[in-house]
Amino acid sequence: MDRIKIEQTDITRLKLDGIVNAANNSLLGGGGVDGAIHRAAGPGLLEECRALNGCNTGEAKITGAYGLPSRKVIHTVGPVWNGGNNKEEELLADAYKNSLHLALEENLETIAFPNISTGVYRFPKEKAARIAISEVRSFLEKHPELKSVTFVVFDEENLKIYKEMLG
Ligand code: APR
Repeated sequence: MDRIKIEQTDITRLKLDGIVNAANNSLLGGGGVDGAIHRAAGPGLLEECRALNGCNTGEAKITGAYGLPSRKVIHTVGPVWNGGNNKEEELLADAYKNSLHLALEENLETIAFPNISTGVYRFPKEKAARIAISEVRSFLEKHPELKSVTFVVFDEENLKIYKEMLG
């Protein structure tokens, strides 16, 4: 399905309708991709995030993109991996699902995801990739109005996994 793309790049450089941020429950910034997005967007992003009063794990909220080349930022919070018996897989699937639905509600046609939860939150990369690809595939089948979803793979391991899984 060529509506799914893989790119090994810094997500803050992409010029799309929206990029997804792997945030934490406070939505007040952090390290990893969250830190990169806030640094590139500038202080206006944090100001808008403050007014959102956080975000539950698996849910998603949307803001402007400020200094970023994209139009919007969808902030979602993936689960911390705790061995797999605390609904982690379900919550990661929810994070993708809710981000996709929010993109649709905001009429975004092109979006990019980082590899949510696979950094600081230690979610096993293969499992996370399987969940991400299956959620995006089934959503795209139902929603032709979403033109493309890019998986941004920052590290070599994720690049290899996504290339293998997407064939
Ligand atoms: N562009 C794209 N991907 C990136 C970038 C970037 N600039 N920087 C890091 N990544 C990748 C990481 O290599 C990893 O594959 O994003 C993926 C997610 O890793 P994290 O950013 O650590 O996110 P996560 O595991 O979901 O942990 C979220 O980390 O940064 C904090 O505030 C954040 O507390 C939250 C936690």
